[in-house]
This record gives sequence, structure tokens and C-alpha cells, in this order.
Amino acid sequence: MKIDILTLFPEMFTPLQSSILKRATDNRILEINVINIRDFSLDKHKKCDDYPFGGGAGMLMTVQPLYDAIKSVKQENSKIVFPSPRGKTFNQKIAKDLSTFEHLIFVCGHYEGVDERIFQLYDIEEISIGDYVLTGGELPSMVIIDTLSRFIDGVISEESLLNESFSNGLLEYPQYTRPAEFMGLKVPEVLLSGNHQEVEKWRKEESLKITKKNRIDLL
Ligand code: ADE
Repeated sequence: MKIDILTLFPEMFTPLQSSILKRATDNRILEINVINIRDFSLDKHKKCDDYPFGGGAGMLMTVQPLYDAIKSVKQENSKIVFPSPRGKTFNQKIAKDLSTFEHLIFVCGHYEGVDERIFQLYDIEEISIGDYVLTGGELPSMVIIDTLSRFIDGVISEESLLNESFSNGLLEYPQYTRPAEFMGLKVPEVLLSGNHQEVEKWRKEESLKITKKNRIDLL
């Protein structure tokens, strides 16, 4: 998959160059390009923002640099995503759907927002990562990219996707590793028993308990 990220702040995207996403890009499963929207501004000072018509707080991103930046990367099969508190709320299902596209374009808004005409000029999906407001679309883009990448073949093991939170409609059960005792705290006996059926039963019960406690809406 190819992902183009359009932003006024390319330096914010260094976290995508570590860990699992680094391995995926090194292995060419994923190609991520970060493109500066300012390079497309036709203004002599490369200005990309202006005051909102009708008044109001702050500045808006102007439509021309955004339009031309998108035009420079868009292909016929591209899916364009605009992170925004106004969008539908992101979840695992949306991540999985996004992971099936060959080309994604993330357009990062900043300041108070963008000129609405960009949504008339292109078919753009607005996605929110939750009911709160961030300073821009850069962090949400990284959240969405990180999440959807896990569904691309070869990025993580298939087994990892099976038993994690939300995969079966529940939150994940508690896990333990060595040592079997630390500061007097013992790992639950059943996990050391070697009885797979009992382990599965215990995990299901724990998943239910934690889902009831933290996310009753999932049940
Ligand atoms: N931009 C600012 N706040 C946001 C949010 N909650 N989700 C996605 N994009 C945003």
C-alpha cells in the first residue's frame, strides 16, 4: 500500500519511522510519503492560511494549496481521508476497510480548519479519532495509519490480530510473562497448568469481566 500524507508540518511524522511501521516500509509492504502543502502555494510568500469570511476566531487553510497538493498525488483508485472532529468515529472496522485500498491520501488540517470548498472539489472522507479536539490532523493521521497498517498482510502476524481487544467484540484478557512470581505477586495458577481448555475458559471470563467494567456498551 502507498500512503501520501499532505501536511504543513512534515517534521511531525518521524514516529512513523520506528518499530513495526519502519519494518513494514523497509520490507516495502508499505510506502509512506510526507508532502509539504506549502510547496504548492502560489502565493509569493507561500502563505497557506487566511482569515475566515464572516469573522470568527483563528485562521483557515486556504483551498488552492490543498487542491494542488491533492491533485499532484491523486490517482483513479485513491481514497482521500481528512481527520476531523466532524467525521465519523474511527474504529477497528473502519481501519480494516481502509487497509484494503491500494492508495490512501491523508490531508492534515491545521489551525481552525480548512476552506469547505475542498470537500466539493474532491470526494473526501472525514474521520474523527474521538470526541475531543486536537490542534491538527497530524496526530490523528498517525493514529489511523498505525491502526490500519496492522491489517495489511505481513505487517504483524495473523495470530496477533485474532486475540486482541475488539476482535471478538470484547476487550482483551490480562496477560503475564516470566517471572511466575514478582514481589509476592503470582501469575494465576491456571496459566501455568498447561490445560488449554481451562486457559481458554479463564481468558473468556476475564475478557467479559474487563469489558463489563470498562466498556459495558460493547456487550
Ligand atoms: N483534528 C482535530 N481533532 C480531531 C479529532 N478528534 N479527530 C480527528 N481529527 C481531528
